[in-house]
This record gives sequence, C-alpha cells and structure tokens, in this order.
Amino acid sequence: MPRRFQGDRLVIASHNSGKVEEIAALLAPFAIETVAAGQLGLPEPEETGESFEANAALKALAAADASGLPALADDSGLVVPALGGAPGIYSARWAGPAKDFSMAMARVERELGDRERSALFVAALGLAWPDRHLEVFRGEVRGRLVWPPRGERGFGYDPMFLPDGSSLTFGEIDPAEKHKISHRARAFAKLVAACLADR
Ligand code: IMP
Repeated sequence: MPRRFQGDRLVIASHNSGKVEEIAALLAPFAIETVAAGQLGLPEPEETGESFEANAALKALAAADASGLPALADDSGLVVPALGGAPGIYSARWAGPAKDFSMAMARVERELGDRERSALFVAALGLAWPDRHLEVFRGEVRGRLVWPPRGERGFGYDPMFLPDGSSLTFGEIDPAEKHKISHRARAFAKLVAACLADR
C-alpha cells in the first residue's frame, strides 16, 4: 500500500524554476503549501542514478534529509528507442552548459538518420518523507520525431515531438492541452491516486 501524504507542507526538490512552478500549480488544489529547495538553500545533489526513477528518488531523499520535510522531485527526458534510449537521463546534458536545445535536437536528428522515428517523453516523480519512506511514479507519452522542429511554445525537445494522435508538436500545442497528456501529468495523476486521493 502506498503511503498517504497527510501533511500540509512539501519541499519541491528542484532548482529549475519552470519545474517548481509547474509542480506548485499541480499541488495547489490539494491545499499543500510548497517551498522550493532553492528557497531553503538546499544543495543540488549529483544525478548519479541510471534511471529516471533512481534520479527522482535520489533528489527527493536528499531534500527530505536536508529539510526534515517531505519532498517531491521530478526527473524526465526524451527516450528514442532507435538510439538505444538516448538521450534519456542525459536529455538536459545534450543541450550543453548553454542549455542550447536547438543543438540537442540537431544531434538527435543527426544520430537518427533514417532510423525509426518513434520516441517517448518519460517523467518519474519521487515523493520522500524524512523517515526515508519513498514512493515513485512514472508517466510516459508516446509519439514521433519530426524534422525540422515546429513551434515556439514549450521547452526542451518539444518542437520535434509529435504526440500520437495529434497533428501539432508539443512546441505548437496549447500548453493547457500539453499539460493534460504530458508524461509529467500522467506521473502526477498516479501520485494523486496513490497518495493524495482523499484530501
Ligand atoms: P532533468 O532536469 O534532469 O529532469 O532534465 C529533463 C530534461 O529533459 C529537460 O531539460 C528537457 O530537455 C527534457 N524534457 C523533459 N520534459 C520535457 C518536456 O515536457 N518537453 C521537452 N523536453 C523535456
């Protein structure tokens, strides 16, 4: 049985302001006050895990240990089966220190060549308590990669990702529509069902 979340305060174990805002918005309907790891001055752990789940767990546990509060962390990325799963957990790193996702998308396209263009976005959410209890949830959205990239909305690899059943890439789609079907939304729905449902 998953553990229910019964507190009213939670640390968002991320130093990425976009993610912090997105997660705070998802938690708002549950009357949970959120505080970001950065606001508490918590250090950013090294992401040494070999899976999305392992990295989400490691980040959530580090923040719960350091703050004494429950903590929620997210780890996500683009998985291309024809590239053996790359860029996967290295999705952010492919953009380099300048966070240049035009370059990262061009690398995906170059390495893909004429191979199979299916891809998925994956998100893992880790919820850790100060006693080191941990729950992890995974969400995925499947689609295909297009070239050239399309659309100015979204972030990261969104402009080259065409979700199944849509004629618009994640770079073109209304953000509210993306948030209904995204990998992060799907992982969050599992977390709600398991840990927040009766709030
Ligand atoms: P993380 O901060 O280590 O989880 O890195 C996640 C990286 O995966 C981001 O920097 C993006 O490059 C990519 N990514 C994750 N989710 C999305 C998404 O919804 N759209 C586009 N790119 C994403």
